[in-house]
Amino acid sequence: MNKMLIQGGNKLFGELNISASKNAYLPILAATVLCEDKLVLHNYPFFTDADNMCKILTSLGANIENRDSDLIVDSSSLFSWGIESELASQVRSSIFMLGALLGRFKKARVAYPGGCEIGARPIDIHLAGFRKLGVKVEEKHGYIYCDAGNMHSAVILLDFPSVGATESLMMASVLTPGETKILNPAKEPEVVDLQNFLNKMGAKVRGAGTNEITITGVKKLHGCEFAPIKDRIIAGTYMIATAMCGGDVLLKGVKPDHLRAIIDKLDQTACKISIESDNIRVTSDGKPNALGKIETSVYPGLPTDLQAQIMALCCVSNGSTMIVENVFESRFKHVPELVKMGADVHVKDRVAFVRGVKKLYGASVSGMELRGTASLILAGLVAEGTTIVNNIKHVDRGYYHIEDDLATLGANIKRI
Ligand code: EPZ
Repeated sequence: MNKMLIQGGNKLFGELNISASKNAYLPILAATVLCEDKLVLHNYPFFTDADNMCKILTSLGANIENRDSDLIVDSSSLFSWGIESELASQVRSSIFMLGALLGRFKKARVAYPGGCEIGARPIDIHLAGFRKLGVKVEEKHGYIYCDAGNMHSAVILLDFPSVGATESLMMASVLTPGETKILNPAKEPEVVDLQNFLNKMGAKVRGAGTNEITITGVKKLHGCEFAPIKDRIIAGTYMIATAMCGGDVLLKGVKPDHLRAIIDKLDQTACKISIESDNIRVTSDGKPNALGKIETSVYPGLPTDLQAQIMALCCVSNGSTMIVENVFESRFKHVPELVKMGADVHVKDRVAFVRGVKKLYGASVSGMELRGTASLILAGLVAEGTTIVNNIKHVDRGYYHIEDDLATLGANIKRI
């Protein structure tokens, strides 16, 4: 069952509870390695990336138990600090394990991470940060070997506000004596959530979400319960779907503040967005205006993780939009597939020129990576006729049964 079958043309009506954030949960799962007491994480999102992260933790000796929607993690008897390539290559967030393992064991051996086909995904910023902390780093035979026997506090300036590097360095420093500062850190809400989780375990981290994060080392962390934030990218995906299809959808539990950039853009496409505490309501006639020019950037700018989805909207908007992808160097793999459906899109380097067309036509298309596959599903929702989206396993990495959510709202979609 690796395909989605979609009949386009339905409007979307109803409400959805948004699940916990994949990109909050993944670093938080890595951070459980730092604590030798039992931890309870609420609203576990059954995405395959999260499941793969649990497999990595279990391979290190952690005991993990699902109890309803809670995940109970016990890392008291961890016996290994090495992650093999077949596990590490499944998911980008294996690289977060480096910082957590160095925090716990002062050494680590991690295979190069996997992740989406959206670019080289280098880890030079991670490794430069570790070297600043006095970690001896060696890269050979596809593995990264780290010896943090002499790890010390430091002031680290990131060349780029990398989300993963920020989170990894936070985790490496919470048990390191002294005060470590991370300058030019990522400011994403998921970084703030990691800070909140670490502090709930007794760490001393402050400044996440600002230009400077300070970590004061503590001796030991203790157990706690924690409920990670909801997934702003899933919410943004369904907001865009409603703007494209037309309808009236209420998304519950997600913080509107985490979606200011996409709310601003969708306002411009002439949908009506209303904020009701932690809920966002989108109403639309399904005839979006074009956006002229949009650029992805680091938080709080337009998230790169919504670029493919907003491109699908631009394909059926009235006018042209230039989309600049500033974060990843090759995140347009969905374009040839959208063109198969009748979209008018031309790519040059990091810029996609989209001319809105009257309608898209159902076709058999193939997903290449997580968010690009989501954008093909959105295109299928508005296309005339039947769309088959192949390689649907990509979308399962970051959405739990996306077809159930969309069918709940009235879309004609099923997994085959
Ligand atoms: C996180 O990836 C997210 N993944 C990505 O979400 C998201 O797109 C990205 O942040 C940007 O917001 C998780 O949190 C698990 P980066 P990450 O390090 O940490 C370059 C999704 O769809 N870079 O901020 O890998 C890098 O090549 C996924 O949910 C270096 O050059 O992103 C990229 O161009 C996709 N050297 C840019 O920085 C480094 O050492 C941003 O990468 C690290 C990164």
